[in-house]
Amino acid sequence: MIKKGIILAGGKGTRMSPLTKAVNKQLLPIYDKPLIFYPLSILMLAKIRDILIIVNKGQLNQYKKIIPDGKKLGIKITYLEQDKPRGLPDAFVIGEKFIGKENVAMILGDNFFYGQNLTSKLLDNAKIKKGARVILHKVQKPELYGVAKINKKNKIISIKEKPKKYLSDLAITGLYFFDNNVIKYSKKLKPSKRGELEITDLLNQYKTKKQLSADLIGRGGAWLDTGSIEDFYKTSMFVSAIENRQGFKIACLEEIALNNKWIESKHINQSIKFYGICDYSKYLKNLINK
Ligand code: TTP
Repeated sequence: MIKKGIILAGGKGTRMSPLTKAVNKQLLPIYDKPLIFYPLSILMLAKIRDILIIVNKGQLNQYKKIIPDGKKLGIKITYLEQDKPRGLPDAFVIGEKFIGKENVAMILGDNFFYGQNLTSKLLDNAKIKKGARVILHKVQKPELYGVAKINKKNKIISIKEKPKKYLSDLAITGLYFFDNNVIKYSKKLKPSKRGELEITDLLNQYKTKKQLSADLIGRGGAWLDTGSIEDFYKTSMFVSAIENRQGFKIACLEEIALNNKWIESKHINQSIKFYGICDYSKYLKNLINK
């Protein structure tokens, strides 16, 4: 099982300016919690407890106010800074020491996943020993995403970033599982024309070796990339609709930790104290007063 996970939570946030001029995108709210809670919840659902969060230089203090450490969640959090957005594979160069000799999962800080069977899917993918695995989701406008064409065995035969000509309608989401070669392969990459290390180039190295596989989120699941203002608010509305109808919260970190038996009531009480009097704390109280 993969034990280490990275959340890439820096970036320019250009599309969401001026909202992102002073505050990083991942600290902005998706309905009732900061965006960063959602990708963190996904790693925790995959039973990954050793987590590196990569943030922009100068923004560490803001992150630490929201998630000071992992103790109350029964996890270990390490923070590292990226001095400028050098591209997604830069995460594995920055995270080399953190990853060590192990395999690693990576999720982009602005990706939102929700759906039935998601947890078992995550656990399945976290079993990967060799190669790389991407998670695909069908989209209406594939030309806006990195897309992948797969064969019947879910092996990837072709990938392309924002294809002008139709290749497939399966977008490559921001959740990836890699073997330890990811460090070596990432270090080999050269910046593209836009000056960034490209995830497509990294994935292509695995594809050439026939080591790139895919899993699909079916129609019962949702993947939302919250990069634009429009998508950001759509995601907020999605969370609000589900939470208010069901009374369950999406991405309540303490609830996941409790279900995973990583923490006990006393930790929940510490969290309630930390957050103060708010709806989120009320929800936490209900978790232990059942
Ligand atoms: P992007 O959506 O590619 O970039 P962005 O968030 O900076 O937004 P924009 O395109 O509007 O400028 O990034 C995807 C996620 O990865 C996002 O959460 C930011 C993060 N990221 C980094 O932390 N470092 C990087 O070098 C890059 C390219 C992205």
